[in-house]
Amino acid sequence: MKKLISGIQPTGRLHLGNYLGAIKNWVDLQDKYDCSFFIADLHSLTIKISPEELAKQSREIAIDLLALGVDPKKSLLFKQSEVTGHTELAWIFNCLVPISELERMTQFKDKSLRQPDNVNAGLLTYPALQAADILLYQAEYVPVGEDQIQHLELSRIIAKKFNNRYKNFFPEVRPVLSPAPRLMSLSDPKKKMSKSLGEASYIAIRDDANTVAKKIKKAVTDKQGVNNLLSLYSYFGDKDKLQTMQADYQAGKLLNVDLKEELTKIILEFLNPVQKRVQELEKNPSKVDKILADGAKKAQKTATKNIEDIKKIIGLK
Ligand code: TYM
Repeated sequence: MKKLISGIQPTGRLHLGNYLGAIKNWVDLQDKYDCSFFIADLHSLTIKISPEELAKQSREIAIDLLALGVDPKKSLLFKQSEVTGHTELAWIFNCLVPISELERMTQFKDKSLRQPDNVNAGLLTYPALQAADILLYQAEYVPVGEDQIQHLELSRIIAKKFNNRYKNFFPEVRPVLSPAPRLMSLSDPKKKMSKSLGEASYIAIRDDANTVAKKIKKAVTDKQGVNNLLSLYSYFGDKDKLQTMQADYQAGKLLNVDLKEELTKIILEFLNPVQKRVQELEKNPSKVDKILADGAKKAQKTATKNIEDIKKIIGLK
């Protein structure tokens, strides 16, 4: 089976953009690929995050992923920081990647503007660590949302540079996009749904019924906003109903309150069983710890072997 890998940062809460853009594909592709998924906790150090928050959110994200259907019988799930090799390979890649390529990254530019008092070196070299996350396991397929495409292109460039300079060792990195590669914000539909835009922008997997209803009620309903709500409906809802609503919208007959009510209903139908599983897992912390530890142990085996090979290739051994 071909290797597939992806990660998510434990900053803030897992939301529908993460789910529809990436996690749903993680879950759906588990039978087709040799899958590894990780909590990108080292990446989260590029923002100011308290030790308590980092630990708490890493655990919550792990639980959310399991509740959404990441299956430890089929896939590895682990914390990035628990496997040595990611940072070692990142250093090697740092010595291959031109600074100019890193400075081109939109996320680097955006985040530098968002946190002007904390433009740390990690923010710049972030994509070298991301390339290492993937290539450490010689993984080829990477299910992500559209905002990560630029980083994956850089991973390809880095792999090529290594292969050309030393030896053909790394495969070509291929992004896997979902039908919802860029879910837009509820409060500002010109921007993507994101934790950094604030609570009103996203629906979190753990939002209760009241919060979901309130957020959808407040969602912006200009042309882009309604289109966003309709597409959100299309990912969860009934196809016939969607067609009727789309036709009504074209004819100027669709009432925003009706659309919002339908949308709230189907999103809650999706979230209810997920949240039940979250509650179950919250009651069983040792089970979650064991899944993460087993995942890290297995990932470490591959990582250790590949780091040894890489060291030989570049003359460190
Ligand atoms: P992160 O934690 O920001 O997001 C996790 C995944 O969710 C996707 N996503 C979205 N997709 C569609 N619409 C949206 N509004 C939306 N918002 C987020 C992201 O594209 C991502 O797939 N750098 C990565 C984590 C990472 C990684 C990796 C991913 C670290 N190393 C190696 C793949 C491979 C990040 O910050 O994702």
